[in-house]
Amino acid sequence: MRLSRYFLPVLKENPAEAQIVSHRYMLRAGMIKQQAAGIYSWLPLGYRVLKRIEQIVHEEQVRAGHIPLLMPTLQPADLWRESGRYDDYGQEMLRIKDRQEREMLYGPTNEEMITDIFRAHVNSYKDLPLTLYHIQWKFRDEMRPRFGVMRGREFLMKDGYNFDIDRDAALHAYNRHMVSYLRTYERMGLTAIPMRADSGPIGGDDTHEFLVLASTGESEVFFDSAVTELKLGNREVDYDNRAEVAAVCKEFTTLYARTDETHDAALFDAIPEERRKVARGIEVGQIFYFGTKYSASMGALVTNDKGEKVPVEMGSHGIGVSRLLGAIIEASHDDKGIIWPEGVTPFPVGIVNLKQGDGAADAACEGLYKALAARGLEALYDDRDERAGAKFATMDLIGLPWRITVGPRGLANGVVELTSRRTGESEEMSPEAAVARIAEIYAGV
Ligand SMILES: Nc1ncnc2c1ncn2[C@@H]1O[C@H](COP(=O)(O)OP(=O)(O)OP(=O)(O)O)[C@@H](O)[C@H]1O
Ligand SMILES: [Mg+2]
Repeated sequence: MRLSRYFLPVLKENPAEAQIVSHRYMLRAGMIKQQAAGIYSWLPLGYRVLKRIEQIVHEEQVRAGHIPLLMPTLQPADLWRESGRYDDYGQEMLRIKDRQEREMLYGPTNEEMITDIFRAHVNSYKDLPLTLYHIQWKFRDEMRPRFGVMRGREFLMKDGYNFDIDRDAALHAYNRHMVSYLRTYERMGLTAIPMRADSGPIGGDDTHEFLVLASTGESEVFFDSAVTELKLGNREVDYDNRAEVAAVCKEFTTLYARTDETHDAALFDAIPEERRKVARGIEVGQIFYFGTKYSASMGALVTNDKGEKVPVEMGSHGIGVSRLLGAIIEASHDDKGIIWPEGVTPFPVGIVNLKQGDGAADAACEGLYKALAARGLEALYDDRDERAGAKFATMDLIGLPWRITVGPRGLANGVVELTSRRTGESEEMSPEAAVARIAEIYAGV
């Protein structure tokens, strides 16, 4: 992408309405535009990151054996009357009437609808286990939408639902989700800690929230600092192996880590004092096991191996896809702007031409741009006729992890400069070497 032809409406001034850094930078970097309280347009740069995050979520869900589909945003109220949640959900639910006066709602979540799909088509334990998920817009008429995409009213969520024949199989699905979520967040450069949580309106027995530590987080969290050292890394986990998956979950949930809703002062005080941490966190996901809560009330029954009809065991599992942009920025920025982790960056690398119009500089930039493209790497090439300082400021603000700077002086010596956004360190090398280095960095992402 050539910046002269792109749509990147950066703001020079700090927008007054933004109280936290991620919201400020998303507005300043031209990623989003507010259209109503808690409702945003995703401008091209923001949209690219959103799509990257979605892509990672899809890849990790499919890796775990979960199956994507797509349910609508609008749902009939009657489905929610079956589970009893139509009245329970309260003012957070956006209720709509169509021209026939039929009651509809904009889905805040999809347990009822997925249960309806399941009961229409699945009757036997032989078709289980089954986990279906989608990534779809939700609407919750939050009392206090704020912090940009962190607490929107319309927001993008991945929500998945497992269907299993018995409790053990459903707990395996729960564990599988936990591991797939850990992988998902790590690929985004995040440390998200699973914490024992409270089940709230979804209802159920077992639930963990995934929290990214950040001073601007809305949840108060209590944990053993050793929990922040745990990493899944590149280990291969066989998602069909119950014992192996359970062992990973045990590793990540044994140390004390809880939100204020489930905090237990006595257990917490047993941790060595220097490891006892109280902090704030952003909830980026939650997994629930709730058994037969929806299948029993909505008649989603399957025949077991004894020929009996039993309500199917279920759980639901959500990732805050749009909230993740805010969470990643809260976790990764400096006073100049965003620092995208390679996994989610809108462009892998930026090219800054220090002297637009200089024959050698222009040709070298074009050459780099095409060589990167040939390796499947789409650079953002700042080909505007701007001062170097302004170009650097834009690159720093939008946070691409790598920048190649091209100028006549370096080219006279056959070199360009490769700079890391994170460390600020620069290295001179030939254009070919810079392309090779970038390709190598992204090969593992
Ligand atoms: N208003 C919102 N704006 C953006 N993301 C949200 C919002 N509400 C929930 N999410 C995201 O969707 C995920 C799954 O939804 P869930 O039903 O668990 O939300 P929740 O527990 O009600 O969230 P919260 O406690 O933050 O209101 C959450 O973990 C969060 O990351
Ligand atoms: Mg939650």
